[in-house]
Amino acid sequence: MRYTPLSASTYREHRARFRQHLEKGGLAIFHSNDIMPTSADGSMPFKQASDIFHLTGIDQEETILLLFPDAVDPKDREILFVRETSELIAIWEGAKFSQQEARDLSGIATVLWTSSYEATIKRLVPQCEHLVLNSNEHLRQHNEVETREDRKNKELRAQYPLHSVKRSAPIMHRIRSRKTAEEVAQMKRAIAITGKAFERVCGFVKPGVKEYEIEAEITHEFLRNGSRGHAYTPIIASGYNACVLHYITNDQVCQDGDVILMDFGCEYGGYASDLTRCIPVNGRFTDRQRAVYNAVLRVKNEATQLLRPGTLLADYHKEVGRIMERELIGLGLLDKTDVAKQDPERPLYKKYFMHGTSHFLGLDVHDVGLWNEMIQPDMVFTVEPGIYIREEKLGIRLENNILVTRDNPIDLFAEIPVEAEAVEELMSRRKVVA
Ligand code: GLY
Ligand code: MN
Ligand code: MN
Repeated sequence: MRYTPLSASTYREHRARFRQHLEKGGLAIFHSNDIMPTSADGSMPFKQASDIFHLTGIDQEETILLLFPDAVDPKDREILFVRETSELIAIWEGAKFSQQEARDLSGIATVLWTSSYEATIKRLVPQCEHLVLNSNEHLRQHNEVETREDRKNKELRAQYPLHSVKRSAPIMHRIRSRKTAEEVAQMKRAIAITGKAFERVCGFVKPGVKEYEIEAEITHEFLRNGSRGHAYTPIIASGYNACVLHYITNDQVCQDGDVILMDFGCEYGGYASDLTRCIPVNGRFTDRQRAVYNAVLRVKNEATQLLRPGTLLADYHKEVGRIMERELIGLGLLDKTDVAKQDPERPLYKKYFMHGTSHFLGLDVHDVGLWNEMIQPDMVFTVEPGIYIREEKLGIRLENNILVTRDNPIDLFAEIPVEAEAVEELMSRRKVVA
């Protein structure tokens, strides 16, 4: 394995948390993702479904989990199905989980081959009061492609039309939004690797480098540290490109005098990190670039302090909007009188700061979470204000990852330079990186 997995006791704890919210008599079923085809005989690298990974740690296709706490036979209360391996599979694809390995990793005593799933379902569904099925209820999901889970859910509902069905997504959003200690430790590993990649890039950038060369430096640092790569498609955007919020072509030359916005984060052991830094191509910010940079930095720092238990995320976002307004007035981009008269539903700051400040972070970069409840300890958020001035070909965003606690928020990227002068200092030590 490329990474150190979480312990079986943590996966047990995740399942215990799920069970606390399961109604009596419920049989919950979770499926892994499909291996997605490309064309001809090609396929995408396998990406495990986050929910089954959270509950088992099994990063392998054709895995199924049943949780049925009220089953008559204790052996049926947790069942894990893994793909049966064979000599042929071992030759062509390499090692797959043995039943014992799956047992040791997940902490689930009953491990069967996936081929026995249908028979097990026939035996257990008549025993349950209702089925608890999982689906992607992320606020911004777009489900044009049916997942394996969608497909299996459909089959099961056709097979048992008289069973009522409940949803596990609200439970998963709840339990995944508060991280256990080992999850935070895993996220810190991802963050540390991302930080190393940032430092590497600061030693590499100079006028004339291409954005994709910077991307390559980052990828190199990720892979050599045990990450499987980027947690999301990285944005390496110099000059005007930084004002294109989802710029991912990364194919332009970095020009002397421009600033590069870099939004990247490695995944480690399935967990995401999400960093944004902006650096001057030639190693020194101009006065104007520095002024905008420092304005964004102040918003980031003040927003971080607002991430405290008991605050509603909607109120937090409104408050950050007020802070941003103040900074945009300071930079001469907004007029105080216009702001005083603005339509509160369409605040003027959105012209320069058009995205949200924070999102949940975890197994998914835009992780599932409790958007309509108070912030709670052990939640991890990004903080990522930005100012995008198209007419100046300048876009600055700064993004760190924050752990909420009962006391002060903890900045998990605290070790990574963010002050403009610290970034310049780092760049002044430029050398050719081996
Ligand atoms: N990198 C994606 C985001 O910052 O939300
Ligand atoms: Mn980001
Ligand atoms: Mn983000």
